Amino acid sequence: MKNRFSLLIAVVALSFSVGVPWLSAAPAGKKVQIEKVVTSPDNKISLAFSLTDGTPAYAVNFKKRPVILSSALGFDLKDGAMKTGFTLLDAMKSSKDETWIQPWGEEREGHNHYNELAVTLQQAGDQGRKLRIVFRVFDDAIAFRYEWPEQAALKDFDIMDELTEFVFPADHMALWQPAFRPQASEQLYAKTRLSELLRQTRLEHGDASAGDNPKKDPVKAVTTPLIMQTDDGIFLVIHEADLTDYAAMELQPRDNNTLKCYLAPWSDGVRVKASAPSVSPWRFVMISDKLSDIVEKTSATALNLNPPSRIADTSWIKPGKYVGIWWGMHLGKYTWNPSKPGEGSSDGLGATTKNTREYIDFAGKYGFSGVLVEGWNMGWARDWVAHAAEFSFTEPNPEFDLPGLAAYAHEKGVDLISHHETGAVITNYEAQVEAAFAQCERLGIHHVKSGYVGMEPRVNRYDTNGRLIGAEYLDGQYMVRHYRKIAILAAKYHIMLDAHEPIKDTGEQRTWPNFMSREGARGQEYNAWAADGGNPPNHDVNLVFTRFLSGPFDFTPGVIQVTYPQYKKNNRVNTTAAKQLAMYVTFYSPLQMAADLPENYEKHLDLFQFIVDVPADWEETHMLNGEIGEYVTMARKQRGGEDWFIGSITNEKKHDFDLPLKFLANNKTYTAEIYRDADDADWKTNPIAYKIEKRLVTRDSILSLHLAPGGGEAIRLKPATQKEQETLKTKG
Ligand code: NOJ
Ligand code: CA
Repeated sequence: MKNRFSLLIAVVALSFSVGVPWLSAAPAGKKVQIEKVVTSPDNKISLAFSLTDGTPAYAVNFKKRPVILSSALGFDLKDGAMKTGFTLLDAMKSSKDETWIQPWGEEREGHNHYNELAVTLQQAGDQGRKLRIVFRVFDDAIAFRYEWPEQAALKDFDIMDELTEFVFPADHMALWQPAFRPQASEQLYAKTRLSELLRQTRLEHGDASAGDNPKKDPVKAVTTPLIMQTDDGIFLVIHEADLTDYAAMELQPRDNNTLKCYLAPWSDGVRVKASAPSVSPWRFVMISDKLSDIVEKTSATALNLNPPSRIADTSWIKPGKYVGIWWGMHLGKYTWNPSKPGEGSSDGLGATTKNTREYIDFAGKYGFSGVLVEGWNMGWARDWVAHAAEFSFTEPNPEFDLPGLAAYAHEKGVDLISHHETGAVITNYEAQVEAAFAQCERLGIHHVKSGYVGMEPRVNRYDTNGRLIGAEYLDGQYMVRHYRKIAILAAKYHIMLDAHEPIKDTGEQRTWPNFMSREGARGQEYNAWAADGGNPPNHDVNLVFTRFLSGPFDFTPGVIQVTYPQYKKNNRVNTTAAKQLAMYVTFYSPLQMAADLPENYEKHLDLFQFIVDVPADWEETHMLNGEIGEYVTMARKQRGGEDWFIGSITNEKKHDFDLPLKFLANNKTYTAEIYRDADDADWKTNPIAYKIEKRLVTRDSILSLHLAPGGGEAIRLKPATQKEQETLKTKG
């Protein structure tokens, strides 16, 4: 009965889709046997799935132009391949159009609208193994995932390679970051064509035909999200979603404008250890001729591709801004090390009761919800990178009154943010983390910032007897499992998590919204000590088109005292002060730090006001203008309020432009509080030269913006009071 029923479904399903002549997923020169097409709700994107001689492939068109040519699907398993010999068992279509509310985010509403095609394939032969591939086509993206149904012929299995490809019709420009480097994606980005990326990959393999270029580092693969721009103005981003129990996907360039999925192997060579039933993460490609669609919707697509929240009551999960005993250590004003007080320019240990009370007072006075304290715990006294196995996550240093400070913070309406630097010694952390989270909950501490310094780019894995098993990649399945385990455990103890040196963001905060922010790119810290002089002015702009496409990033903006010769002669922040303010709008994080020393904010209270006013949670978000790696302007509406905030940042080139304000409400007059670079500001020669101006605007106004070289502009737009309407001038 069951078999007859599924046969009937298969026949019905197969009968409603036929191949479309202008879109074919068949490899060149081959005749396709079976083809199924699914289009986006607005019909602009079409995806074709095909079986040719039993081999599956897919291809994609956008506005009738090919954007992905016939590309491989499938796997090499340890005990056989799942890439050929398939027949189609059934092909089912369905659709979804749902709206869901984000507990926090860049938008209040998530809109999940797609058409789906799910194909079930079976291999010939005795085993007859089954593989499902589910395709979804959104108005601005395609996505697919593999599913291994429960079946007698497949129980536990080892994936030795995922064969997924993305074949493009031309040599696109890409803004890419090399993968598998130390410190979890804390690398600068390069803008080249795919062919140059391929050449650099060949260097890695010692291929003589790639030429000799000793100045360039060889590249094994690149990270996702990866953004590309075609010569005819289409923007593409490849990323993944719902990375739960798998290796992260990097992309390896191959011949003919092709990128192939590259999974970091376990130390035993297996890339993924799985048991049917199981699923892969979603692979998705954003496709649009508007860069704003890409910037606004890539992370939203990842969220849509993750399961809904597993936390029923999310009322304790609150976005907010924080200050911390942090930048002082990176500058050398303070130390993490209790046994080195007072050395050199240092005031000594940062994490003392006295300093923390002062930070709590500062946070309370200016309305910050958190105070991060690094160095509060035992384990920093020796070279902590070499001795990270000595970290305790429950025992405070003798100068830090943990319960007293947690209580004092609450008196001031502030939460301490605990800090767990693991030094990438996973076993030491996993042995203590539950006790540490439980202790936090007992003390009413609801935030933990974690860290994994020392991934080079692998971490040692030990068995339960402390014997070394092997070194595992940050991007491999071992660490993916670790981060997920920590996020779930944190939820149990009502802890909001901010992971530094994290696994990349694939939208899992939809399911675990307590995993609020993370690092995963070069942040502000590099400006304190990097030997290369810190983040160049284009890095901040590059981030908007790369790391930020995946979701929140704890960059830690707001260092307005951009030079600090008394601490660091050879380092500085390579921006203007106004650009640091603009980052609060261009850079999204629901836990947003005001990173500078309190004394620097007290010195520039007029500038600091913007950081005090800007929220960390948004109703809606728009990219108003921008070019990859050049400049970008974002506008965001405060959640639960009427105010709008604009941030605009540029690279090392100055940028002047007119900005219409059509996104503002009709029939409303706003006061624009403008924090801009002075006319003679320049990140290199005159970085702390700024002007603060107020004027009245409406949705018909056009603002003229001047961004200095390496500069930016931050604007708050709030409904004008009667008094402001009488005293301020309207800018037409
Ligand atoms: C690296 C983190 O990114 C940084 O924020 C932290 O201060 C250090 N690790 C020390 O834990
Ligand atoms: Ca870091």
